[in-house]
Amino acid sequence: MIDPSKPDLEESVNVTAAHDRVLRGAAAAAREKQLLENGAEPTSLWIVLLCVVVGLAAGTAVNRAGMFNYRSTVQDDYVRKIPGAGGDEKLPPMTAVDAYKKKGEKIFSKCVGCHGADGKGDGANYPPLAGSKFAEGETERFAMIILNGLTGPTSSGKTFGVMPAQGAGMSPEDLACVMSYVRNSFGNAVGDVVTPKMAAAALEISHNRPKAGNAVTADELNADHLKMLPGDKLDPAMMVDPITLEPAEAK
Ligand code: HEC
Repeated sequence: MIDPSKPDLEESVNVTAAHDRVLRGAAAAAREKQLLENGAEPTSLWIVLLCVVVGLAAGTAVNRAGMFNYRSTVQDDYVRKIPGAGGDEKLPPMTAVDAYKKKGEKIFSKCVGCHGADGKGDGANYPPLAGSKFAEGETERFAMIILNGLTGPTSSGKTFGVMPAQGAGMSPEDLACVMSYVRNSFGNAVGDVVTPKMAAAALEISHNRPKAGNAVTADELNADHLKMLPGDKLDPAMMVDPITLEPAEAK
């Protein structure tokens, strides 16, 4: 039986008392502030949060007082103004047929790789659009070819291959302009304008084709699409704004 009041092992050390001291020392240390290795105290979370609040308040105050304004860092006319995007100045009006052609030429970049910038095709794999009956004839037929692609034969009776559909991402205005461009370029001179309304009707008709998603065939074109697209005609000589295509006063 061990008597806790009596020294054990060695005369000089009372293990029980020493153990007690260690425990009390550890408890006292735990109550103290944590010290970093260099003796500094870690920053209190409250101080960090206070700094954030002060920073936000200061930022808001500076902003409210108008001491910083992003606009004042931008010089007037430093950036090229995009015509029609809020700029006051307007491009001079032009005839509807010219305005539609101008926009259509940009969309025609989709077609250039195959049909050529001059619309003459390559005679072997891609047919010409210059003098093409399918391009110059009924607008619904032409639109169906663009929107769905074509698997021959072409208007010349020859089959070149398969044209992939080009309608992806085309707005009614895009379609109207590229059609107007082809019908009045490369020596083609139909002289009319395909309007966005007509093109919107074409998108609808294309969407509702029984074989939607497949290229049109010459048979389908002749059976279903030998028509002019519905919609009011636009006088090709009318003056319009070349950006908005809205009617404009001639100066
Ligand atoms: C990847 C090549 C390719 C692209 C791009 C392309 N086409 Fe075609 N296109 C063809 C081929 C090939 C044919 C002939 C298909 C056939 O033989 O059945 C064709 C036929 C046509 C025809 C019929 C011509 C005729 O007289 O029968 C028209 C109209 C036409 N394309 C217009 C366009 C327009 C407009 C675009 C651009 C929006 C365009 N194509 C983009 C390859 C292309």
